[in-house]
Amino acid sequence: MAFFVLAAVVLTAVCILASLAVLLFAKRWDAAGESRGKKLPLPPGSMGLPYLGETLHLYSQNPSAFFAAKQTRYGEIFKTYLLGCPCVMLASAEAARFVLVTQARLFKPTYPPSKERMIGPSALFFHQGEYHQRLRRLVQGSLGPDALRALVPDVEAAVASTLAAWDGHVSSTFHTMKRLSFEVGIVTIFGGRLDERHKEGLRKNYAVVEKGYNCFPNRIPGSLYYRALQARKRLRAILGEIVADRRRARGGAGAGEDAPIGGRVDLLGGLMQPAMALTDDQIADNVIGVLFAAQDTTASALTWILKYLRDCPKLLQAVKAEQMATYEANEGGKRPLTWAQTRNMTLTHAVIMESLRMASIISFTFREAVADVEYKGFLIPKGWKVMPLFRNIHHSPEYFQDPQKFDPSRFKVSPRPNTFLPFGSGVHACPGNELAKLEMLVLLHRLVTAYRWEVVGSSEAVEYSPFPVPRRGLQARLWKLDDAHNRVAQAASSA
Ligand code: HEM
Repeated sequence: MAFFVLAAVVLTAVCILASLAVLLFAKRWDAAGESRGKKLPLPPGSMGLPYLGETLHLYSQNPSAFFAAKQTRYGEIFKTYLLGCPCVMLASAEAARFVLVTQARLFKPTYPPSKERMIGPSALFFHQGEYHQRLRRLVQGSLGPDALRALVPDVEAAVASTLAAWDGHVSSTFHTMKRLSFEVGIVTIFGGRLDERHKEGLRKNYAVVEKGYNCFPNRIPGSLYYRALQARKRLRAILGEIVADRRRARGGAGAGEDAPIGGRVDLLGGLMQPAMALTDDQIADNVIGVLFAAQDTTASALTWILKYLRDCPKLLQAVKAEQMATYEANEGGKRPLTWAQTRNMTLTHAVIMESLRMASIISFTFREAVADVEYKGFLIPKGWKVMPLFRNIHHSPEYFQDPQKFDPSRFKVSPRPNTFLPFGSGVHACPGNELAKLEMLVLLHRLVTAYRWEVVGSSEAVEYSPFPVPRRGLQARLWKLDDAHNRVAQAASSA
């Protein structure tokens, strides 16, 4: 009995102390609004437990459910505390535009230092101002329409070899698509003139970096994070060799412009131009950064597209009919796809757009307020993280009718401004969006005209790696169709 009384007393004391801590914590944040001499209130919302904030809530459930529940309770702007940082979340198109476009100078990009170290601190997405603009112009140029037109045969070749390797067996769609997006990333950066030894070295070490990227940062030998740091050093060394080889090939360091291949300068050639005045570390950080930005995002989107098409047999037939017309125009796939043809795949393009909306691969992004900012009568204090919630915007019935329905026909008309943000918006919007779409169009063309695929097992659950993908990467089997099958199918669909 005495034991139970003692236990009750201890428990009560713990509860009182915990409540006091929560009150003090809440008071501290409430005071933030006034401490800077402004009378503006902080946005509504809960800061959760002291120090932990709501991190456990977020990670113990589907993140979309976490954000959606908050939005229902507090509206388009609310505060929380995640991963050691006070945050303001913004769930409306207008707020996203405020942070990313009209008042972008008040919000700087921000990433945890461990992640910045892993990718490389000079990668463009960590920066603002002149350095960012200079790099961005270059990256946009190497991913612009002229460069992409010349890249179509390389993307086609990468798609063909990826699907040929998948033919006849069950594989994770996501892992297969990762191989494809890595190949396309490599050819975009190195212009197809990377020797196999260097490519293999990049592939192997990059995979180790990826495994450790989201792990708790530490220096314990053998841990995934530590191994990733070691692999990052090896990546830097390999890139150093590639840069030195190129310099030798063009006659010494700083010896003028890189020779264009097939009329285009690849991204590495652009980064090495003397006018860019970049150090080898800066070049390596940006190469790794672009590879990183390009791979899992595109692979995850492609995986969702395949799932959505598998779930809608009628739509798949319609996409197939659209692609067969191009296939026939190219003499049964004997002539290569052209850039113009990829720009004329209306239904397939709408399927891609709708998949990007539904899946919202990048559910939100992070910025940090560089000054106290007022938004709709609320204070966003300097130093707080600010997160425009793309997924909430894409799934809002205010912007998209019946938002949980997969309906590509909604893209017959353009979405309202700032409501469709799969590639972000403003100065940091994705410069690789057209390349990603090209990759998807070419993959879909080849897949539906030359193959049949079947999902194996359940695909309903979602995993976060960290991008959302169907369970186990969507296990699927692929078969090559023969021409006779295609002719019969074509005749049936046009009958
Ligand atoms: C479906 C595929 C992709 C999606 C959904 C996607 C999404 C995004 C988003 C939302 C941003 C902006 C992030 C922010 O504002 O914080 C971004 C930035 C970026 N993306 Fe992509 N991306 C994709 C593919 C690619 C590809 C293929 C490349 C390059 C080959 C690429 C390179 C970049 C770079 C370099 C940035 C940083 C731009 C800057 O800071 O100025 N992305 N991407």
